[in-house]
Amino acid sequence: PKTKMFVKSLAESPDLISIPSSYASMTGTPNTENQELSEEPEVKFPTIDFSLLTSGNPDQRSKVVDELAKACEEWGFFMVINHEVPERLMEAVIDGCREFFDLSDEDKLEFEGKHLLDPIRCGTSFNTTQEKVFYWRDYVKTFVHPQFFFPHTPQGFSEIAREYSKRTREVFLGIVEGISESLGLKAHGIYKTLNLESGIQIFMSNLYPPCPQPELAQGLPPHSDHGFLTFLTQNGVDGLQIQHNGKWINVSPIPNSFLVNTGDQLEILSNGKYKSLIHRVVLHRNKSRISLSIANGPSLDTVVTPAPELTVCQRPAYAGIKYKDFLELQQSNNLYGKSVLDRVRI
Ligand code: SIN
Ligand code: FE2
Repeated sequence: PKTKMFVKSLAESPDLISIPSSYASMTGTPNTENQELSEEPEVKFPTIDFSLLTSGNPDQRSKVVDELAKACEEWGFFMVINHEVPERLMEAVIDGCREFFDLSDEDKLEFEGKHLLDPIRCGTSFNTTQEKVFYWRDYVKTFVHPQFFFPHTPQGFSEIAREYSKRTREVFLGIVEGISESLGLKAHGIYKTLNLESGIQIFMSNLYPPCPQPELAQGLPPHSDHGFLTFLTQNGVDGLQIQHNGKWINVSPIPNSFLVNTGDQLEILSNGKYKSLIHRVVLHRNKSRISLSIANGPSLDTVVTPAPELTVCQRPAYAGIKYKDFLELQQSNNLYGKSVLDRVRI
């Protein structure tokens, strides 16, 4: 049978008891790979209290900066709490994403887009011309900074998304200052080198419909994010797994928190001190998961290199690369592991 464009309609087809072979992963799947899942209750994820970073109290701030250093170095992942983005806004934006995915296939196809840098895109797998196995997810992705683009439907969604993106960016910029300091750079160092004033912010929502064979299909394969830092929230259904000390760990967020992970540009800028996080998404048989990731990166024409301050005593471990070229390389690759970052490693 012809593969349907959106996984949602495929998942809703009556009597679906198995997945089409084009969705079956042959390389081993999330639940059958040899890597064990760690024992849940013992995992203590790093948590960053944003209000302490911005309170104006230097002792509290330097403590949080140390926590950021540790989280970035040992995990590439942390949860941000007390960030002041209102809970009702976080709920409203996820509701908007759900309403978007509930549009008909025909309505959604208006936003399909064709090219990597089209400001609004909607579809299913990451790159349907490259991938041999499709992912069990649909997505909508738009550029929301430096210029804001968004679908005009469902009604009201664009305004909510604009506000959410703006508020999330404020938290991102606060965290970037802390990370800057944690690397021994000036607080505004990273903002300036990455030209964050016109930095890229991407709004990407994913829908992972219920899957009749969750052990065979993949939500998203193991990968790192191309940007600097990603801020993620979800609809209360888990599914994100992060790689930590060679094991896969399920992430169950603190309610109302941001799940933040390090991306490839941070790995380059920190000269490998803060490695980008490898993560993946597993599926459920009966539950539908919606996630919303806000990817924050440099401006498109920034050439990202290891920070000069960090390469005084150490050789640069990555060649400089323009962020736009990095994005384009990623698009011509599979979404797997660190396939693009590996190309710029010296
Ligand atoms: C992503 O890795 O881009 C999405 C992660 C998720 O859906 O939890
Ligand atoms: Fe990701």
